[in-house]
Amino acid sequence: MSNIIIFDTTLRDGEQSPGASLDISEKIQIAHQLKRLKVDIIEAGFPISSKGDFEAVQTIAGEIKGVTIAGLARAVEKDIKSAADALRNAKHSRIHIFLATSEIHRKYKLSKAKEEIISMAVHSIKYAKKFTNDIEFSPEDASRTEPDFLAEVVEAVIDAGATTVNIPDTVGFALPEQYAALITGLKENVSNIDKAVISVHCHNDLGLAVANSLAAVKAGAGQVECTVNGIGERAGNTAMEEVVMALKTKNSFFKTETNINTKEIITASKLVSSLTGLRVQRNKAIVGENAFAHQSGVHQDGVIKNRDTYEIMNPEDVGLLKTSLVLGKLSGRHALKERIKELGYDITKEELDHAFEKFKLLADKKKEIYDEDVEALVQEEKTDTPHLFELEDMDISCGSVPIAGVRIRIGKDEIVSKADTGDGPIDALYNAIDLVTGIPANLVDYNIRAITKGKDAMGEVNIEIDVDGQTVKGRATKTDIIEGSGQAYLNAINKIAHKFIKRKK
Ligand code: KIV
Ligand code: ZN
Repeated sequence: MSNIIIFDTTLRDGEQSPGASLDISEKIQIAHQLKRLKVDIIEAGFPISSKGDFEAVQTIAGEIKGVTIAGLARAVEKDIKSAADALRNAKHSRIHIFLATSEIHRKYKLSKAKEEIISMAVHSIKYAKKFTNDIEFSPEDASRTEPDFLAEVVEAVIDAGATTVNIPDTVGFALPEQYAALITGLKENVSNIDKAVISVHCHNDLGLAVANSLAAVKAGAGQVECTVNGIGERAGNTAMEEVVMALKTKNSFFKTETNINTKEIITASKLVSSLTGLRVQRNKAIVGENAFAHQSGVHQDGVIKNRDTYEIMNPEDVGLLKTSLVLGKLSGRHALKERIKELGYDITKEELDHAFEKFKLLADKKKEIYDEDVEALVQEEKTDTPHLFELEDMDISCGSVPIAGVRIRIGKDEIVSKADTGDGPIDALYNAIDLVTGIPANLVDYNIRAITKGKDAMGEVNIEIDVDGQTVKGRATKTDIIEGSGQAYLNAINKIAHKFIKRKK
């Protein structure tokens, strides 16, 4: 059995999904879960791209130990220096350098000849070697690069010190047989190929990212780059859960294993979906709601007699069917603390105090409190969104003209009440909030889902607003979905309020 390295890029390529931007505290929560999943490498961001990305990589590098932390850089010194600075506190760090090699990118994007590409790549690796020995090089758009030139680049970067060579199918253009042949070709034609790990990085434009990655593993790739739920640019990246479970389920075919603790897959999927606001389709392999549900009578009958009749994987192996009924009205602070720990969260005393207060209020409204409810409480505690505007109270009436009244605390002491009408109760509520904040926000997306079962389930509201051309996400989880809608709206407003108010002065 050979070991396949799992390189997770949820926080970098995944975060490039339209509408998926994460703040630092959300990235850290995901990084902790990736560690529990036991991914080998976390690509935490692209440090030169923004101050927020730099800080996220820096914080993750300082906080998450026992996993290699990678930062992305273009093949230029300032990017590499920025990645090295952000990664300074990592126990194990990797600098991931990319440079496009295909003819179309050379001609139109870079205006560079082949020789210039090779010399830039080699120079960047030698420079990066001053900071860490662990260097990955990606010839961007490799699958559309002339195979001879690709082999030349790969040989040169390994000579310069690259320890991993990643072969991206950047635009999701490859087919499994072609992609496998590309890997085989590199193994046959690059004289020093055994000095580096071959990695694969596939995009899902034709729905083939997982199939291409698996074909490449069969052809000898040693690392797979992937994201939780397959999120990423355009149609997304290789889905971590799919590639890992395919390798596990068909291990007699692949003769490989990974270090992934598959029982953490569902938790990771839910966390990423809830923090990014990117819902998982019901029929998605492994993590979709229907992935292990049997609807037809014939199937149900078979599964009752012997699960193997219609199930090729055990739901327990991906973390389903964990006991999820946890606490109730009479549960104490200690029980909550233990449950939070079992769910894998580190929580400070102060966070626990707040979470317990909210837990008691929730337990008054809901008889049974599930893991998902506890996770929602913890996530609320972990967010570092400032609380400039807080919804103190609201009053909604849904007659022929819906009216909403709100009472909002501004800062520490000021309380403002306003009322307005709207097309429906949510519209009226948002109009009333706008009167208080004075921030011209346009609602561009609104989603709501129940996070557990039953009429008393908590509703998770995810929204997106546009303020002066900037898109901001907001999220809240409440048993009362109208209140949750108001909180999610204010959560988004609070993220942008400081900037807006500063600029107005
Ligand atoms: O898709 C791609 O080519 C990338 C590289 C930066 C590896 O994401
Ligand atoms: Zn990519």
